Order: sequence, then C-alpha cells, then structure tokens
Amino acid sequence: MIGGGYVGLVSGTCFAEFGTDVAIVETNPDRLTALREGRIPIYEPGLDRLVAENVEAGRLTFGDDIAAAVRGADAVFVAVGTPSRRSDGQADTSYVYAAVEQIARVADGYTVIVTKSTVPVGTGREIARIVRKTRPDLDFDIASNPEFLREGNAIQDFMRPDRVIIGTDQYKPEGTERAQNILRKLYRPLYLLETPIVFTGLETAELIKYSANSFLAMKITFINEISDLCEKVGANVNDVARSIGLDGRIGKKFLHPSPGFGGSCFPKDTRALTAIGRNAGSPVRLIETTVAVNDQRMKDMGERIIAFADGDVRGLTIGVLGLTFKPETDDMREAASISILDMLDKGGAHIRAFDPAGMTTARPVLPQSVAYCTNALDAAKGADILVVLTEWNEFRSLAPEKLAREMKGRKIADLRNIWDPRTMKDAGFKYISLGRPDAVQPR
Ligand code: NAD
Ligand code: UDX
Repeated sequence: MIGGGYVGLVSGTCFAEFGTDVAIVETNPDRLTALREGRIPIYEPGLDRLVAENVEAGRLTFGDDIAAAVRGADAVFVAVGTPSRRSDGQADTSYVYAAVEQIARVADGYTVIVTKSTVPVGTGREIARIVRKTRPDLDFDIASNPEFLREGNAIQDFMRPDRVIIGTDQYKPEGTERAQNILRKLYRPLYLLETPIVFTGLETAELIKYSANSFLAMKITFINEISDLCEKVGANVNDVARSIGLDGRIGKKFLHPSPGFGGSCFPKDTRALTAIGRNAGSPVRLIETTVAVNDQRMKDMGERIIAFADGDVRGLTIGVLGLTFKPETDDMREAASISILDMLDKGGAHIRAFDPAGMTTARPVLPQSVAYCTNALDAAKGADILVVLTEWNEFRSLAPEKLAREMKGRKIADLRNIWDPRTMKDAGFKYISLGRPDAVQPR
C-alpha cells in the first residue's frame, strides 16, 4: 500500500484484518514515525485498536522502503493524494505517477498495480504507459479500485461497503482475468457478506468514483438551496428533506442543510469532474453549478453572521463551536470554517473557537488571531454571538442556560440545525438556523 494517509492506512489495515499481509509505505517522516511507534497520525475512531491488533498479528508493517514492500507483492495499491490543481481544477496526478514509477522500478514477477486514489479518467492507461516505459520487461496489469469510505466512519465503510468496484483493462481480456482473480481473493470476506462486487473497465471505474461523489455533493447543494427557499416562503427544510427522502428513489441521506460541503473529497472531486467533462467536450453543467453554488454558499454564510450582528462584527466576540469539515474527524481540508472565520476576522471580530478534534489541524489554516478554547463553554465565554459550524454530538447536549450564563450577548447562529428553535427561543436567545421558520410547526 503506497501512502499511509486516511485511505492507505484504513484500507491497508482492513485488508490485513481480512487476513492479507500488508506493507504500508509512507514517505512523510512524521506520519511514519508515529505509525512505527504505535500512534495513529490521523483521528479516526477505532483505527488505533485495529492497527495494533494487526501489527501484533504480524500482518501489517510500516516503512519507507518501497522496494521491500513491492518485492513479491501480488498487488500494489496506490493511495497517495490527488489534490486539486490550482490552474484548472483537475486532479493533480503527479504523486500517483511518481509512485507508479517507483513501483515499476522495483517490482518483480507478475504484479497488479491498483489505483485506490481518486484519479481522473484515463489515469489507468497512462499508468500502464509509464510502467511499460520504465520496465519494458515487467509482467503487470492495471486495475482501478476506487475507495468510498467516509472519514469518521472509515472502518465500518470499508468492512461493510455498499459495493466494491474493480475496474480492469477491458481491451486485454487475459490480463483482466488475472488481475480480477487477485482482487477477488483480496475481497473474499466481502463476498461472504454478499457485498455487490462490480467488475468494469478501467475508465468506467474511474468515472464511477467521480460520479458518486459529485451526485452526493449535488444532493447536498440541492437541499441547501431548498433551505434558503424555505426561509423565504416560511417552510421547514427538515420536513421537506424528510418527506422527499421517504421516497425510495430519492433516499433520506445527505439531505441535511449546511454551510456548504467541504472535506478532502467533494470539493476537489466536483471540480475535477467538471474539468474531465470540459476536456472531453461533454460539460457536466449540473456539477459546474454545484461547485459555484457551494463556493458562494460559504461566503453567504459569513455574510449571514455579519447581518445577524446588524451588519458589523467589529469589536464583537464571536464564539465558534466546531471547525472541522464534519464531525468525527480532525480534517480541516476545505472546511466551511476557513472562509467564514476569515470573513469574521477581516470584519474585526474577536473569535473564540473550540473543536473536539481539530484544534491542531485548524491552527495553520485559520486566521492567526483566533483564540483556541478548552471546551465549548469556554468558547461561549463573553461571546456576543455563538456560531455552530460543525455538528459534533457533544454540542447537541449543551444546556441553553449554561450557554446563556457564559455568553455576554444572546445571539446564536446554528448553521447545522443542532438545536430546536423553540427551546432556544424559550431560553431567551435570538436564534437563527437553516431553513426553519420562526413559527413553530404544527405536529
Ligand atoms: P492523504 O494526504 O491523507 O494521504 C496520502 C499519503 O500518501 C500521505 O501521507 C503522503 O505522505 C503519502 N505519499 C505520497 N507520495 C508517496 C509515495 N511516493 N510513497 C509513499 N507515500 C507517499 O490523502 P487521503 O485522504 O488518504 O487520500 C488519498 C486518495 O484517496 C486521494 O486520491 C483521495 O481523493 C482518495 N480518497 C480519499 C478519501 C478520504 O476520505 N480522505 C476517501 C476516498 C478516496
Ligand atoms: C465523502 C464521501 O461520502 C465518501 O463516500 C468518499 O469516499 C469521500 O468523500 P467525506 O468527505 O469523509 O466522504 O465526508 P461526508 O460525510 O461525505 O461529508 C462531506 C461534506 O458534506 C461535509 O462537509 C459534510 O458536512 C457535508 N454534508 C454531508 C452536508 O452538508 N449535508 C449532508 O447531508 C451530508
């Protein structure tokens, strides 16, 4: 497994848990040192125990020697980053290609080179070209096995996935069968659970991953726009979302309004799909719009808080609950908090923030003036306005009277709808949330 980040570490550990011998190669010295010392460099519930058990069982090792890991391997997975390229929004595949060259140089015997990273359509074929050029003698096949795990629920998602996608070279049937057999063996425990395993061509597998993420991002963006509309017409987005979601064709998941989707995947993958579409002469306009609406939404949320402060946050103390792009992760990549706090900081607000897992990762990406607090009540201390940006469970149970006791003002902007408007109003707060009207709905 080349890359020991969120995907490489979780996938590698879970493959080991399935009974396979796995060597994870990681070049970041901090991450590698942590892993070797038995520490998990990312926040992922349950991962520490699973790693420890598999290391103890001798099935899982960590190192930086790619040759040692690749030699004798039946399959080599590439799970390195594919961040957005600034110039055109396309995924930057340079880390993937660099890893593939390294693999090709040291591989011996038949090897399946598998992309676990999310890669643009056509990457698999380019990898084959690079391998042939680097090692004309090497017996190999290419496969695409995109990963659908979510951070925070990664182990469960990997061990009990809705489906597994295995893409192999449709123009090379003998190779396809060989590669498929190795991957089928690897995923055998999932066969026993009757998990659908979908075999496709390379390009199809690559496009499935972008289509899945973009569809979910579009679904969120849809409910965000409906949420805004609810506010204008006096409707309740919770009831709209629940009711449309009861239609099995729509489905109830991913219909929670938010300050905008973030994270390491949706923003970059929606941008990449639009680039793939444009380059292929087949623009994906719905996703182009999704990208634009989501970017604008994060700015609108900053404006909304400023408007809530009667148009001026200068000199105000703003308490912020939650910084990460979603709960149960320490990941700050493309979190809505980044642009929102930047606007509040530029507006002259004093920001006091707390996040249960993201305090270390947040510092480098948030304005320097942000004060980091020891807990939620500490963040509320002296606040004129309290803002909820991430729906960590521990915030849901905060007693309104306790918040009121800590705060100076009585304004709460809940951008994740974690509290009941009636309860907050009864507690004396001026409370705004997303897509829920002031009037209490009939039950
Ligand atoms: P990450 O940045 O957390 O991890 C990548 C790791 O690879 C880093 O630790 C880096 O040091 C290491 N690395 C880079 N080049 C290397 C090399 N040549 N040899 C060894 N190690 C190397 O990224 P991630 O979040 O794990 O994402 C990896 C890929 O998986 C991306 O393409 C992403 O789109 C995709 N993906 C991510 C998620 C997610 O939730 N994070 C889910 C599904 C798919
Ligand atoms: C996502 C995909 O879900 C996963 O399948 C893929 O492999 C990687 O990308 P992840 O980024 O970990 O996973 O988080 P996810 O739970 O999907 O949330 C992404 C963003 O959407 C977060 O910012 C979250 O707050 C937001 N979101 C999610 C909403 O705003 N509303 C929702 O209803 C659901």
